[in-house]
Order: sequence, then structure tokens, then C-alpha cells
Amino acid sequence: MRDGRSLTSDLVAAVRAYYSACPADLDTVHDPLAAELLPRAMAWPAQLVRRMPPLARAGHLVAGMFSMGLSYLIPLRTRAIDAALAHDVERGTRQLVILGAGLDTRAFRLPLLADCRVFEVDHPNTQDPKRAKVAGHLPACRELRFCAIDFERQGLSQVLEAAGFDRQAPAFWIWEGVTMYLSREALEATANALAELSAPGSAVACTYMPPAVMRRSLTAAGGSLLGVIGEPIIGAIDSAAIADVFAGHGFEPESDRGAEDWAAHYWGPREVPFVRGYERLLVARKTRPGQAGSSSGPG
Ligand SMILES: C[S@@+](CC[C@H](N)C(=O)[O-])C[C@H]1O[C@@H](n2cnc3c(N)ncnc32)[C@H](O)[C@@H]1O
Repeated sequence: MRDGRSLTSDLVAAVRAYYSACPADLDTVHDPLAAELLPRAMAWPAQLVRRMPPLARAGHLVAGMFSMGLSYLIPLRTRAIDAALAHDVERGTRQLVILGAGLDTRAFRLPLLADCRVFEVDHPNTQDPKRAKVAGHLPACRELRFCAIDFERQGLSQVLEAAGFDRQAPAFWIWEGVTMYLSREALEATANALAELSAPGSAVACTYMPPAVMRRSLTAAGGSLLGVIGEPIIGAIDSAAIADVFAGHGFEPESDRGAEDWAAHYWGPREVPFVRGYERLLVARKTRPGQAGSSSGPG
């Protein structure tokens, strides 16, 4: 990751802010705080569409066209992860860990977390300015703890346990829009640590970018831009390989879906032809102990 804070976390929050301001047919995530966390220049599309709702669909189509469908993925993946999280909280999970949290606002916007302890784990370059911005806001969760980490250099276990994570209690892990920015070593080391810390019944919701998509997007404008802003996509992984990473630690896949599936579900068939599957979301649950020796690496 570059030296400054993550610009990709601003970009995805700007998209969530936009869709939160849209009329009902496009209102995919309800994330009004996103606009407040953003630099002013990135919040204006959301502010404009809030004042002039008839522009919402035009903005949706134009942004989708210029980003080659990438802008559609963001609110849809967040909505899909929210649904998976709600399912686990209903079954009794009370710990949520958000890895590479960026400007994620779940700790503030989801009343279902009222009895939960939330750990936001992120690079300090991104986390410090966010902490300053949310300082005046009351979390919706029981407790919110910020944990600073560089996944390329530090182990997750020490960082989380120092913050009070309870490895005897099940946890829900969110790894949204992060793995593609990590080396394979950092991805596997973090997955190892996550698994070691997971009591039976824990679940992970992890988005990943398949290699064919990475090759396509690296030749497209969006991929080059990410390199220029210092957050190149380096960590593609295919569906079987990511399922294997977690299966080695006792996690069984529950679902593996992409943007087309969510668009059909949340937006209806009219939108599906324009949506591109840049990322997929694997949801897997810890059902048995991991294999001995599968937890090498930092963590
Ligand atoms: C695209 S943003 C996603 C943010 C958030 N999950 C979301 O969907 O809104 C990528 C996030 O990964 C974090 N990140 C990237 N490389 C990292 C590293 N080596 N260590 C810690 N965090 C990292 C960035 O700080 C940023 O918050």
C-alpha cells in the first residue's frame, strides 16, 4: 500500500454514499455517514442526487459506463455482506471483525449490532484519519475497537487479542475489497490467523478477484489508475484456490456469488446486462478444526 491513506477506500465509500442518496429503486445500501467521511469533492455526487432525485438513474448509468460496471459492484457487495452478517447475528454471533475496514460504517449504521463488539482492522494510514472523522458519532454497536495493522508485515492474532478479541466465542469476519491488494503471502498468513482465532460456528465473508478478471481489468483504464494511485491489484485468486485456503482450516463454503447474482436479486433483471463480475464473495463457516501445521506465517 502507498504511504498516504487508501484512495480506493474513499472511492468505494463515495459509491455507497451515492446509492444511499438514490430513490428507492436504486437505494441499495443505507450508508448516509459515508458522505460525511469523504473529502468534500467526492461527496458532491451524493449531495446532488439527494437534492435532485430524478438525476439518480442517469448518474447510475454514466458511472457504470465509465467504470465499466465496477461502480455497480460496490453497493451490491456491501448489501450481500450485510445480509450474511445479519444471518449470523440472528444465530447468536456477537463479535464482528472488519479486515481492511476503510470507510466501512457498519459499526455506526447497523442497529442489529447493538449487542456486538466490533473490531475495525486497517492500515494506520487509512484508519487514523477515519478515526478523527467518526470521533463525534455514536456507534450502533455495543463496543467499537480500532486495531492498526499492516497485513504485509504484522500478524493478526497479536493485534486482535491485544484489543480484547475472544477466540472462544464465534466471530463474523468481513474481508471486503481487500484481498486483491495483498500479496499471496499476506493473504494466506491473514487467513491462517483468522482461522486460528475462529471458534466453531464462526464465518468469513471474503471478496476476491479471479485471475481472468484481474487480467481484463489491468488492461482497462480502472486497473491502470489503481497502479497510479499506489494501490495496484496484485492478489488475484480463483474460486477453488480461495475455498482451499479456508477449507484447510476447517471452513466449509456456504456460498460463492458475484455481482450478476446480487443485481438480479436486489435490482431486478433490467440491470443485470450492465453489471460485470469483478469480484466474487465467498461465505464460509468453520465447522471443524483446521489441519495441523496449516497455520504457518505471521499471525
Ligand atoms: C478498497 S479499500 C476497501 C475498504 C473497505 N473494506 C470497503 O469495502 O469500504 C481497501 C482497504 O484495504 C486496506 N489495506 C490495503 N493494503 C493493506 C495492508 N497491507 N495492511 C492493512 N490494510 C490494507 C486499505 O487501508 C483499505 O482500507
